[in-house]
Amino acid sequence: MKVVSVVGARPQFIKAFPVSRALTGRHEEVLVHTGQHYSEAMSEVFFEELAIPTPEYDLGVGSGTHGEQTGEMVTRFGELVAHEDPDVVVVYGDTNSTLAGAVVTAKTDARLAHVEAGLRSYNRSMPEERNRVLTDHVSDLLFAPTERGVTNLETEGVENVHLTGDVMYDAILWARTRAADHSTVLEEYNLTAGEYVLATVHRAGNTDDRERLATIMRALGETDREVVFPIHPRTTERLETYGFYEDVERQLTLIEPQGYLDFVRLLDEAERVATDSGGVQKEAFFLDTPCVTLRDETEWVETVDAGWNTLVGADEDAIERELGREVSLPEKPELYGDGDAAERMVALLEEHDG
Ligand code: UD1
Ligand code: UDP
Repeated sequence: MKVVSVVGARPQFIKAFPVSRALTGRHEEVLVHTGQHYSEAMSEVFFEELAIPTPEYDLGVGSGTHGEQTGEMVTRFGELVAHEDPDVVVVYGDTNSTLAGAVVTAKTDARLAHVEAGLRSYNRSMPEERNRVLTDHVSDLLFAPTERGVTNLETEGVENVHLTGDVMYDAILWARTRAADHSTVLEEYNLTAGEYVLATVHRAGNTDDRERLATIMRALGETDREVVFPIHPRTTERLETYGFYEDVERQLTLIEPQGYLDFVRLLDEAERVATDSGGVQKEAFFLDTPCVTLRDETEWVETVDAGWNTLVGADEDAIERELGREVSLPEKPELYGDGDAAERMVALLEEHDG
């Protein structure tokens, strides 16, 4: 079987590596990087530490408006698919790279498999929600990480849905001990385990709104603990444009975006995490770190229902209150499979081959 895998943004490198490993030696995989993320700390570092082969193609698309970025990917990926003629194209998650891969594949004979299918925030103003819905509705094989994902797709009348578990859980099982054994990130930034809050903020809904971003930054700056903030380039750019980068730098411990193992180590040892990331909400759950989510809704509703995640939006009081609240760690249900999601996906690809 010839598999073309499409990645482009940071979380996709992490989602793809367990699948790449499961394919190795059994099938031919052509890894394609759209170039959506291109800074060393947002791209190259992951290929080095996850020991996945350098992508065979880098489409070099880079940043732009949604239309420019997605359109450019469609053009370049379209040519590639015509040339490679794969049996199946695998796309991951909900970024513009996911959508471009899906749109192109939908117009060829290749099958389209969507990893992380069925997720819904039910907030259509999120670009990711539109990307997910569109991708799910043109996919031939849908790999849902959760029961909720399966139910969401059933409600929309989508067929060929398989509950596989979550590849990010596969990834964390690989990374957690490696990070504990090899990462020196705590020493590097002089941090004490259990005594800092980790923060990540990059979602368009938070960063494109000056007031909302200002409120979140203020609330983080007012917490008693040290707040360590590996800052996404999008957020750096917005803070500079809005003119409050220096204020934030004074109040928070701003650090570069981290590699995966260092980030996992930071999250594992944090007293708490405040984030608007999708992946980080789940990783916090896997690593027993209580999560405060800087959004009004989430696709990962199970983490909230289980008591491991609290939605606070950009409400200054709620952020401060939740970050300061004592939490006793609730029981942990098995929500995201058993760590074999990638193997299950490859078995399903084989079953549906030809
Ligand atoms: C994208 C995804 C988002 C995902 C996030 C993961 C879409 C619509 N959004 O958002 O779902 O959660 O990736 O991190 O696909 N930039 C750099 N260097 C880079 C990449 C980006 O400087 O390597 C800066 C540029 O100024 C760029 C901005 O970040 O304009 C935004 O990048 P973009 O890829 O458009 O969206 P993200 O916010 O990263
Ligand atoms: N991550 C990382 N370094 C960082 C921040 C995040 O390696 O500095 C990893 C994190 O462990 C998770 C993924 O990147 O696996 C999440 O990516 P991001 O928050 O950018 O995107 P989202 O999940 O919201 O789409």
